[in-house]
Order: sequence, then structure tokens, then C-alpha cells
Amino acid sequence: MVRIKQVAEDLYLLRMDDTRVKYFEAVWEIPEGITYNAYLLKTDDGAVLFDTWKQNYEEEFVEALSSLTDPKEIRHIVVHHMEPDHSGTLPKVLELSENKADVWGHSFSKRLIEGLYGISPAFNAIKDGDTLEIGGRKLVFVQAPWLHWPETIVTYMPDEGILLTGDIFGGYSIPNGTFDDEADVENYLHFSKKYVITVIGHYKDKIAKNLGKLEQLNIAPKMILPAHGILWRKNPQRIVQAYLDWGEGKPQKGKVVVVYTSMYRFVEKAIKIAVAELEAQGYKPVVHKIVDDYHSSLADILSDVADSEAIVFGTETYESDAFPYAEFILNEMIKKVEYEKPLLLIAIFGWAAAAGKKLRSTIEKTSFDLVDVVEFKGLVTPESETRIKKSVKDLGAVLRP
Ligand SMILES: Cc1cc2nc3c(=O)[nH]c(=O)nc-3n(C[C@H](O)[C@H](O)[C@H](O)COP(=O)(O)O)c2cc1C
Ligand SMILES: [Fe+2]
Ligand SMILES: [Fe+2]
Repeated sequence: MVRIKQVAEDLYLLRMDDTRVKYFEAVWEIPEGITYNAYLLKTDDGAVLFDTWKQNYEEEFVEALSSLTDPKEIRHIVVHHMEPDHSGTLPKVLELSENKADVWGHSFSKRLIEGLYGISPAFNAIKDGDTLEIGGRKLVFVQAPWLHWPETIVTYMPDEGILLTGDIFGGYSIPNGTFDDEADVENYLHFSKKYVITVIGHYKDKIAKNLGKLEQLNIAPKMILPAHGILWRKNPQRIVQAYLDWGEGKPQKGKVVVVYTSMYRFVEKAIKIAVAELEAQGYKPVVHKIVDDYHSSLADILSDVADSEAIVFGTETYESDAFPYAEFILNEMIKKVEYEKPLLLIAIFGWAAAAGKKLRSTIEKTSFDLVDVVEFKGLVTPESETRIKKSVKDLGAVLRP
């Protein structure tokens, strides 16, 4: 579905609701879908386009854009970063503008346009604080590296207090409303957290850094217009604070993420004991599993780690090694949500243990605080049950010193 809406004086949202995509960037499970938000500023001296849509919606984009302006009226195109979910339709727009439009962005975006699309449009490389004035409107550009690509920039309209942020402050899902005062914000924040963790998580340290930079430049926006999800006008500070919290992995009180793999449910039996013990201690375990009839979403696992107090990770030895999915999930945790959070590892084997040692050596190199490794053979015996319960108590002791 296409949504075209005026969001401020002379400023229009062009939103594409992508219900076809199943895996964002071909990896992150998003049954909730995603929107691509482009914006158009119309002035008496011509129009400015901010980003475009993914290439497979080129036809729809051209139609939506043409309903607002003749593409030949576009004088400038601002590229907030070159990831193809926003730049895919750029070559077509340039073509339709008969190359009258020039592109504004980070100097590295110029190289990416050449590298990704084989074209070299007229280009203005921006530096921090550079301005563009058109038809009585003023745009100020600021670099925000690595949120999400190296050459990310944002655009501020100081007279209106409007900040166009590209991926920053975006979220998955297809919200019913356009703005925060029209949407179920509580529910949406879940998708926004999942988005920031999966897409920007690897660069999460850059969140506070870049937001601090905007603050120093006295940018306190009244309206935030991101390239995905809902737009913020009632309470923009809500999404700013949420991004800061997720960036630093601020925990929700009592939330413990339990992730396990189990081929024949031996690990599962051990995990059930750990979960019961967590509940007995007053924690709220959120359980994710890789079993023979269900695989939890990797995106959800990572998203839940981000605001958890602690992690319980259960797995088994497989072909003298760690279980494939266990290594995969752990590696993604290290890439996206490596925070100083306590982690308990439960590893089961059949005849010669390997998973515990291997995963221990991986975890010990990270910021995760490895509280204990409980490793035992096959069946949960009364003895191993006691060990599991004790290690969960030790985990609780770390959380409540
Ligand atoms: C395909 C396969 C490969 C296995 N490889 C090993 C191994 O190399 N070393 C070992 O000690 N146990 C091995 N095991 C045994 C499991 O680690 C053990 O049965 C464990 O209890 C499995 O727990 P689960 O049923 O929760 O997956 C293997 C089991 C399977 C099914
Ligand atoms: Fe991106
Ligand atoms: Fe994006």
C-alpha cells in the first residue's frame, strides 16, 4: 500500500508499506513488514526529494512522486545513506528529472552511487553544518556516521524544528497511523527495538555518540521524520530516549532471556529446570528455542537480549563440536548485542563433551559475564538438577548483589 500525506507545510511523506518482504536484508525475520518513507519538500523554486524506495517498488514510487510534482521540478535529492532500501529508485528519479536534479550527501555516498548504480550525477558533498537554501526554506546537514552506513547524514530544518533522520529512529512493522499520536506506540516500540538491534546493533556505540553530537549542535527536534515506521511529533523525545536505552542495553527489571537448542529434548529438560528456578526467584524468563518443530526468530532473540538482565544459553555437543545453530546465534549475539550482561551456559553431551569448552572460550573473550558453565552427560540426574538450580541461584546473586 502507498500512503502519501502532508506532514508539515510544503512537506510530504511518501510511504510504501512492504508486506512482500519476509527477511529484511535477507536475514531478519519480519512477518510484521516494513515501510520505506521518502519525503518531498515543495517550494516555489523547485522541489527537494529526501531518499527514495527499494528498487522493486520503482513503478509505485514514480507514480506517487508524480502525483505530487513533475519529476523535472526536483532540484535536489538528499541521500541520507545509500543502502538500497532507500536508494533503489534513485537512478530512475534522476533519469526522470532529466538530470536537472543534483544529489546532496556524504562524499562517500557519491562513490557508492557510482559503485552500486554505475552513474555519476551532479553531487554536492556535505560537511557538518553545511546548508542548502531553497524557496525560503533552509536545510542543515549533519553527518551521523554508522547509523546505519558509514556515510549516514541527517537533515535539519531549523525554522520548523524538523529532523529527517534516515534509518535513525526507524522501526519495523506497518503502523496503522502515520504519527506517534495516531499509532499504538507501546506495541510499535517493540518493532523499533527489533529494528535498531538487528540493523544498527553492530554499531550501537555510535548511537549515544551521534545523538550527543546533535545535542551539542542544539538540535532538539519538534518533529522526527525517519525513513521507516512511524513519524514523531507528539513526543519525539520518546524515541530518542528509547534509542539511547537500547544502545546501551538498559535492562528491563526481571527479564531473563533463555535461548536453547535441542535435538531430542535432553537440553530442553535441563532448561525447564532452569526456567522453573528463575520463576521461583521472581524473574520473568523469555524463552527462545531451536527444536525439531520450531525455530525462534533470530531477530526476536537478539532483540530480547538487548533489554534483558541476563541470559541463559542451553545447547549440546554435536559431532565433537558446538551445535551449529548455537554457534550461529552466539556469534550474532556477540556482533549485535554484546553488553556486560551475566550469562549462564548449560551444555549437554552424549559421550565426549565439546560444546561447553568451545563456547566458553568464545564467551570469555566477550563483554558477557560468564557466570557458570554447567556441563553434564545426557539425562538430567538429581545431581545435575542440583547443579542447574545452584547456577541459576548464582546468576540471581550476580543480579542482586
Ligand atoms: C547428530 C548427533 C551428533 C552428536 N554428536 C555428539 C558428539 O560428537 N559428542 C558427544 O558427546 N555427543 C554427541 N551427541 C549426543 C548429544 O550431545 C546428546 O545426546 C545430548 O543429550 C543431546 O541433547 P538434545 O537431545 O537436547 O539435543 C550427538 C547427538 C546427535 C543427535
Ligand atoms: Fe540502512
Ligand atoms: Fe533503511
